[in-house]
Amino acid sequence: MSKLDYLRENLEMCDEIILDALCMRYRVMEDITTYKRRKDLPIVLPELDEQKREHLRSRLKNNRHMDNILDVFENILLNSKKIQFNQLFNYNIVLIGFMGSGKSTISRALSKVFAMDVIEMDQVIAEREGMSISEIFEVHGEEYFRNLETKLLRELQSRKGVVISCGGGVPMREENVVEMKKNGKVILLTAKPETILERVRSSHERPLLENNKNVDFISDLMEKRRIKYEAAADITIHTDGKSEFEICEEIIGHAKKD
Ligand code: S3P
Repeated sequence: MSKLDYLRENLEMCDEIILDALCMRYRVMEDITTYKRRKDLPIVLPELDEQKREHLRSRLKNNRHMDNILDVFENILLNSKKIQFNQLFNYNIVLIGFMGSGKSTISRALSKVFAMDVIEMDQVIAEREGMSISEIFEVHGEEYFRNLETKLLRELQSRKGVVISCGGGVPMREENVVEMKKNGKVILLTAKPETILERVRSSHERPLLENNKNVDFISDLMEKRRIKYEAAADITIHTDGKSEFEICEEIIGHAKKD
């Protein structure tokens, strides 16, 4: 056997070990998820991930491939989360709520914590139209924008296991609510008008609030929408005074039960 053949054989052996270890890791991961779900334990513990990274760094500190190995390990962890998520949810998580209730922030956190795919409806619409939401309102009017929302929501029914962050007006159309419930658990995020005002104050991307950034207007519009929001929601989460992580845990805690 030539030296090269010998080395190649060694490499193949390494790959076999990696494959076996990964298969085993993901099987154990599934068992952990099943156990946590049965005992109603928190699914995500970011501090454990951090401890693991710390351990890897110290174990590899004299290895010249440390950065590459850590990079591979990050992907292993990310894919563990994807496996966990697929095990817990086989439907979409649909976030609804008033402007500034935290839908986009929480979607981003869910994507980070659980490696979930996120679809930000406003962003998709703006990209497709090649203009901002404010410009769409200005150029084509609100009805045109609302039709785009309905069309996109219908399209999204072909997706599974994603987080859909809806624009605040989406649940106002009953046909939209029918769509989101087909394959999704609908989570309503709420906050006090004062909190909403703080969150939207510096944004200029919400045409309905542009000249109405005050508590009275916000309270009024929230009240007008409340019945429809509540009718659409499977779960309501109050976000005031809670951290992003607490809200994610609440979402996961509710959603994982079914
Ligand atoms: C709207 C909410 C906005 C955006 C548009 C209209 C609404 O999205 O879709 O400005 O009618 O509540 P966010 O809720 O993400 O701000």
